[in-house]
Amino acid sequence: MSLTILTHPLAGHVITHLRDKTTKPATFRTLACQISLLLAIEATRRIETEKKPIETPLESVTGDVLAHQPLVVVPILRAGLGMVQPFLDLFPDVSVGYIGLERDHETAVARSYYCKLPKLDGRHVFVVDPMLATGGSAVKAIEVVKAHGGTDVALVTIVSSPEGVAEVGKHHPAVPIFTAALDRELNARKYILPGLGDFGDRLYGT
Ligand code: PRP
Ligand code: URA
Repeated sequence: MSLTILTHPLAGHVITHLRDKTTKPATFRTLACQISLLLAIEATRRIETEKKPIETPLESVTGDVLAHQPLVVVPILRAGLGMVQPFLDLFPDVSVGYIGLERDHETAVARSYYCKLPKLDGRHVFVVDPMLATGGSAVKAIEVVKAHGGTDVALVTIVSSPEGVAEVGKHHPAVPIFTAALDRELNARKYILPGLGDFGDRLYGT
């Protein structure tokens, strides 16, 4: 199991403002984009490049460009939507798939309500969801991605709990996890502590 936690000082700064309960939805959305940009850069560190000869105004040089292998970003609805834009900005050829999962407020068990995925076979797939709590949603989403042919899958989250990381590691040991913060624990209602509350509600002002 591989877990990468962002160490850039900007990540800590953004996470602190996301956690702050006085942060309003408009700012929260901007911060979610900022942290997702850092995560997108980290999670794609190993994608392939190829050589391309070009002419600068002064001489010829061979540089690196991204190899043609479109990536796929799969947000878990709805909170995962807040992490998609940086992938679109960085990788113009990215495809977007959607998996709709919602946790039951009493049991914290995720229920599936939507799925629309592009071709996944042979592509780098990034499942994005800001909160990895019990891990139930992430485990289910990765199962769906694998069932649709995804073999190269990574999970990108903003805040993770030790319980969630362990759960994903147990069910999908080959799926690397990239996160901005590894928090302390879950509370009795399966919310992450210290956490930032309900990400979807704070993102969309609900
Ligand atoms: C949140 C979050 C994850 C899930 C994490 O979504 O975005 O998908 O909970 O919890 P878990 O690890 O215990 O499964 P939620 O179900 O609240 O739906 P929303 O995105 O529509 O707000
Ligand atoms: N979903 C959230 O949005 N926050 C948590 O702390 C746990 C699940």
